[in-house]
Order: sequence, then structure tokens, then C-alpha cells
Amino acid sequence: MPAAKPAEQLRSDGSLRHLLTLEGLPRATLEHLLERASHFVAPLGQMPSRNAALHGKTVAIMFAEPSTRTRVSFELATHRLGADVINIEVQLSSRLKGESVLDTVATLESMHVDAFILRDADAGVPDLVAGHVASHVSVLSGGAGSHAHPTQGLLDALTVRRAKGRIEGLSIAIVGDVRHSRVARSAAQAFTALGAGDVRIVAPPALMPDAGEFIGCSRHESLASGITGADVVMMLRIQKERMAAAAIPDEAHYFAEWGLTRERLRLAAADAIVMHPQPMNRGVEIASDVADGPQSVIRDQVRHGVAVRMAVLETVLLRGDQP
Ligand code: NCD
Repeated sequence: MPAAKPAEQLRSDGSLRHLLTLEGLPRATLEHLLERASHFVAPLGQMPSRNAALHGKTVAIMFAEPSTRTRVSFELATHRLGADVINIEVQLSSRLKGESVLDTVATLESMHVDAFILRDADAGVPDLVAGHVASHVSVLSGGAGSHAHPTQGLLDALTVRRAKGRIEGLSIAIVGDVRHSRVARSAAQAFTALGAGDVRIVAPPALMPDAGEFIGCSRHESLASGITGADVVMMLRIQKERMAAAAIPDEAHYFAEWGLTRERLRLAAADAIVMHPQPMNRGVEIASDVADGPQSVIRDQVRHGVAVRMAVLETVLLRGDQP
């Protein structure tokens, strides 16, 4: 199924109803979500932020692709706002028996589900569902093909902002399999909209996105030129599941040319941070001592993921004082 024409994400009063992509969202909406998310961030070891703002609401998580962080953090976010959550194992559900995703959604809608969170290898599924749900229902993408992963883009923006104090003017290198990465697309859209100085796409030719994509970003076909002087180095996993077998690079060769090692990281700014959306392939795109090293904010990204998802759920389900 091709990516459908994007459903309208904003209501007529400008408030956020669905979150399917960060592309084209007003900067004020992004700022509002980051600002709300920052209220929900708590240091490790402290009680996580919790309230009953969504008491009585019901959220359905329907993932048709593997997920650890995104699924769990959406689930925790829902619990921490006092709503009910149900998890549908799509592989096990009626879709296997031929029921269309729209029929499954309609069934759950009849049971008073207020929001659907969807992950699918088919980039068009969240849009399709958003185009069919009742007007009081919201749809959030938990990752759609290689097209969009909006809450990941937001948590990446929140992580940069909290670690560096700003996004404006920063040089941010997104490195590796950019071509197949929904994370790269959503993160680049967030960084660009929030005023980053130079968003760099750094990839070998086979993993470089098409020319019409990543408008406004610079392109680098060598790791050294791409990360030199960068304030942020975001590494990506090779998305084997989205490639033909013949195109999958040999892991040892890939690490030799494209792996982020301690030595290579010295090319970046002295206070550069290292990010990775995970799951990580240690020894393929990133050396273990970099992933676990002092410049890594990878675990902060995960913590911020819950806060961002709380902010998004609260915003779409309560409307509140949105811009
Ligand atoms: C990513 C995804 O699924 O898009 N993971 C995530 O959500 N944090 C990245 C990946 O799979 O490599």
C-alpha cells in the first residue's frame, strides 16, 4: 500500500488531533509538545511523573512490527496518565484471518477506544486508519515503514535540547542507513523545524536517500567529513528487513568504514553527544565503548521517550491549552 495522502493532523481550531508525521507541523506545536514533555521527565531513581489526566480514556496499541522501547514507553505513558490501555498482537489477531485493519479498528472503536497507536511495515497504514476513525478518535504513528516515526523524532529533539541547552545553530550528523530509516526522516524534520544550523546526512552511496528527500540537509559520503566538528552524532541501525538480501553490507567491512569508534568520535566537537534510537548492533554501526561511554545519551533517549509519549497522548486526548 503506498503512503496515503496524509490525513489532516490538526483540527480546524489548529489543535493536534493525530500524530502521523512531523513534516509540516507548525513549530509552535512542536515546541508545545517538547515543553509538556519536559515537565514529565524525571531523573532515574526518582518516582516517574504520574497523574490522572486521562482517567476514563482508552488507548489501543496495535503493532504489526517488532518493538521494545516504543511499545513499552507508549504503554507506560498511558498508565502514567491514568488511562486504560490494551495491546493487540497484530500477528495473532484477526488480521491473520483476513480481517482488514479498518474492521479491527472499527470493532475497537465500538468498545470506546479513544486513540489508536499503530506500527506497520506498510507506510500507509496509520494514515489510512486516521482517514476512517470517528471524529473524537485520534491516531498516533508508532513507526510507519521507512516513512515516519514522529514520537522518536520528538524524543530525539528533546534529548538534544536537554543535553546541549538548544537546537538552534547546532551541527547534527545523522549517520548510516538513512535511506531506510523512518527515525532519520522524523528526526531531521524536527531538527530542521527547530532551527538546527546544519543537519548532515552521512551515508555510503547505497544507503543515501533519494535526492528529493531531506530538503535543507547537507550530504556527506564519508564518515570523517560528516562528523567533523558535529555537536551531535546520531548513529542508525542497518535496516536489513527493508533491503533486498544482495544489498545488505558485510558487517565487518561496514564497521571498518562506518562504525563509530572512540578514535573517530574525536573528529566531532569535544563536547559532542552520541545518540542511537536502538536497537543497536554493537560492533556494526557503533563500538560498545562509545555506546556506553561518557558522550552517549542513548539511555536518556529512552527515558525521554516515555515523557514525549505522555505529552503527545495528553495533547491529542485533552486538547487543553494547545497553541
Ligand atoms: C527504530 C524503529 O523501529 O524505527 N527503533 C525505535 O523505534 N527506537 C529504529 C530501528 O529499528 O532501527
